[in-house]
Amino acid sequence: MAMITWNDSLSVKVQEIDLQHQKLIGMINDLNEAMKSGKGKESLGKIINGLISYTATHFRQEERYFDRFGYPDSVNHKKEHVAFVKKVTDFKNGFEKNDLAVTMEVMNFLSDWLRNHIKGTDKKYSKFFNEKGLK
Ligand SMILES: [Fe+2]
Repeated sequence: MAMITWNDSLSVKVQEIDLQHQKLIGMINDLNEAMKSGKGKESLGKIINGLISYTATHFRQEERYFDRFGYPDSVNHKKEHVAFVKKVTDFKNGFEKNDLAVTMEVMNFLSDWLRNHIKGTDKKYSKFFNEKGLK
């Protein structure tokens, strides 16, 4: 998997959320590096758990803003979050079974998904949030 670098094309025009996305991307890159360099199961497990809990926190934050401002596309957006959490859980299960092929495959899926979600679904809320004063 190629390293993901954050750039302005990934900005959703809300600073707090951009920072969270940067952190998520950093965590995915760290995990990829750790897998490639053959880090032990224990340290990989820690990174995966960190990624899962940070993702949950980040999604909750976005969803709190949807609820607070009455974001019209909230239902569909939340569905995408649920699908992502399911994938990360599959990833964790594959990893626990020591299936590195599955792990790398899911890893690629996660990084693509994240980029597409940020560039597509997340970017749809930029204007809406900016108009509510969230920047
Ligand atoms: Fe999102």
